Amino acid sequence: MSNNPIFERMDWGAAPEGADLAMQWLDDHGRRFGHFFGGAFLAPSEREYFETFSPANAKPLAEVAQGSVADVDRAVAAARAAQSPWWAIGGYERAKFLYAIARLIQKHARLFAVLESVDNGKPIRETRDLDIPLVVRHFYYHAGWAEAMESDLPGCEPIGVCGQIIPWNFPLLMLAWKIAPAIAMGNTVVLKPAEYTPLTALLFAEICQRAGLPAGVVNIVTGDGETGRHIVEHPGIDKIAFTGSTEVGRLIRQATAGTGESVSLELGGKSPYIVFEDSDLDSAVEGLVDAIWFNQGQVCCAGSRLLIQESVSDRVLRKVKARMDRLRIGDPLDKSIDLGAIIAPSQLERIANLVQQGVEEGAVLYQPDCTCPKDGWFYPPTLLSNVNTASTVAQVEIFGPVLVAMTFRTPKEAVELANNTPYGLAASVWTENINLAHDVAAKLKAGTVWVNCTNLFDASSGFGGYRESGYGREGGREGLREYVSEALGARTSVKGRADEATSHTSQTPLLDRTHKLYIGGKQVRPDSGYSLTIDGVDFGRGNRKDIRNAVEAARTAQSGWAGNSSHGRAQVLYYLAENLQSLDNEEAVHAVFSVAARCDKRDGAVHSLPMKALCYTLNEPVGVIGIVCSDDRPLIEFLELACGAIAMGNAVVMIASEQCPLPAVEVYRVLETSDVPAGVFNIVTGVRKETVPTLAEHEDVDAIWCFAPEIAADVERMSTSNLKQTWIAQGPQSVATVLRHATQVKNVWVPYGE
Ligand code: NAI
Repeated sequence: MSNNPIFERMDWGAAPEGADLAMQWLDDHGRRFGHFFGGAFLAPSEREYFETFSPANAKPLAEVAQGSVADVDRAVAAARAAQSPWWAIGGYERAKFLYAIARLIQKHARLFAVLESVDNGKPIRETRDLDIPLVVRHFYYHAGWAEAMESDLPGCEPIGVCGQIIPWNFPLLMLAWKIAPAIAMGNTVVLKPAEYTPLTALLFAEICQRAGLPAGVVNIVTGDGETGRHIVEHPGIDKIAFTGSTEVGRLIRQATAGTGESVSLELGGKSPYIVFEDSDLDSAVEGLVDAIWFNQGQVCCAGSRLLIQESVSDRVLRKVKARMDRLRIGDPLDKSIDLGAIIAPSQLERIANLVQQGVEEGAVLYQPDCTCPKDGWFYPPTLLSNVNTASTVAQVEIFGPVLVAMTFRTPKEAVELANNTPYGLAASVWTENINLAHDVAAKLKAGTVWVNCTNLFDASSGFGGYRESGYGREGGREGLREYVSEALGARTSVKGRADEATSHTSQTPLLDRTHKLYIGGKQVRPDSGYSLTIDGVDFGRGNRKDIRNAVEAARTAQSGWAGNSSHGRAQVLYYLAENLQSLDNEEAVHAVFSVAARCDKRDGAVHSLPMKALCYTLNEPVGVIGIVCSDDRPLIEFLELACGAIAMGNAVVMIASEQCPLPAVEVYRVLETSDVPAGVFNIVTGVRKETVPTLAEHEDVDAIWCFAPEIAADVERMSTSNLKQTWIAQGPQSVATVLRHATQVKNVWVPYGE
């Protein structure tokens, strides 16, 4: 018989973390913050402030400056002034500053963790054990890259001033993912935290001051989406890095179209969590708790779609419900709670509405019998089972503690269901069968695949999406690429290019030949029946229908082509080079030969992690790539780009030079004698404005490269609907650069041991 009834019930007691330190810090600043520009905190030019609240009790925490156009101007000016000197001090000096920042965050880890939990509503267990340690690791890791830049990334230079816009779900972690690689590579930044969670970014600004970081290297401007828009539209910004909703990602793509700005987007997801019948079901269910209820499900890569093999579906759902019954929801500062608060009432309402819609569309709802605190914004852990694949909740990112469950019968069906989404951020695969695990991991369209684990992150491993989850990677060697521009070694001289162009334009028509289009491995007449006459020679005048046919042919051929080994693709390209000798143009042969030579050299890597896990990267093809050639180097550019793309397993729809299409059509005669499978390499000639819009807008094209500057802006604008990757460039590119654009990185995590 005990005195305390808790020993009878064995309930969890409260284990609150003190908030005093964080409250003291807020009080020391009078609970009001300006922006951080040029190394100092400054009042906003329009004297406007907004409040940030604690989601756990809906009470205001502090007032924060609302950034205006003038404020963004000031921040960009400070960043611009600081950039050259920051690059000039060299990698070793920059590394020392990043190292100091890492050390200082570590020393103030508790303050950061508490402040983050209070401002965001997430459990202290998560900020303490995951967010802040990962932030620290990011700065240490990138301190290393600052030092190693010169030797390990030869020819790379900073891009300049980076505008960085981050969301509220991992406020300090997203800041670290953005700032650490940017400043390590010699850039300076203007970062805007989300309006709901600005506080740890402001504390970080103080850390920069304490580390003695040169003024203007890091600038923090606070504000809402309007402030974000000012950053995006500012002409003094050289690069935009954004994490947030797909909707805003699209707006950013529209706004930056044609500006030449580099853009990386990390957007939403609807990540599958696949449980095969042979998996360790208890581990899979425990992993699931982390996948969907970590940070209340407000995670871009949350495992929000549970796909269970039918034979174990009932058992898994029983286990999931039993586990849900034991989840604790409450004060984020309580060390023993599992779920904290939802960021804002608007988000709470959105979650509730989507759940209701799911039920109306036939889903079965399960919520444990737990009581949510009444003071703040809380939502219980929720399971929707019996969900139809087409229903709203199976497709839309809910961004809350809501799991949607479906079943499958075979691995093939699992992959189809998993890929049945416009997103492609992450996926988890649970099976004890190593063959099945690697096979399914390779087939999933996602930037990260976790095998028998979930939500593992590390600075050394790039994170980012496929398809509408965005593009660009954060972390790892691949992430550095977002923050450097590559000086090119051997450029063809401008004169050389002009010579090539004139030699082709002035070519007298050799023959009375009908030049057609080349689609699906066949010469075809243009749908319109019209031709375009250049220098007395008639070329096929492609139209929308031809582009659609070409895309369809490319889509059909692409997966089979990608399924070849890289050695096999190299062989096909070598043979193409051999046959190209018939054109009597050594440069053309060399262009294809150099791609073939590198075809099987673009290895992935195994990341070095601070844990027992293998994380290997695969360089995967992007899919179907539309390529718009310039009129500049009508043969060589055409071959370099097309062959670079297909070398990596993509299929291409080539829009040949408008003014000099002859070299391109000569290529298809060679293609016909080669082993390139039908549909992998399609060529359309004609007037660009009659073909390019259809290609740029086509939903089944994964990327578009545009080397014709006069239409580059339109291409970027038109290609936003399915968030195609775009590469806008001009002039000769190194083979390495082409191959990099032709691939996207997938990281596969496989933990081992205890
Ligand atoms: P959001 O995309 O509007 O906000 C993210 C950041 O972008 C914030 O800093 C915001 O101020 C800024 N922003 C908003 N409009 C902008 C514009 N026009 N130009 C430039 N910057 C702009 O996300 P929000 O409204 O907070 O959440 C809405 C939904 O977005 C969520 O329900 C969730 O589905 C998704 N989301 C996804 C995230 C992810 O990590 N993938 C993160 C946050 C939200």
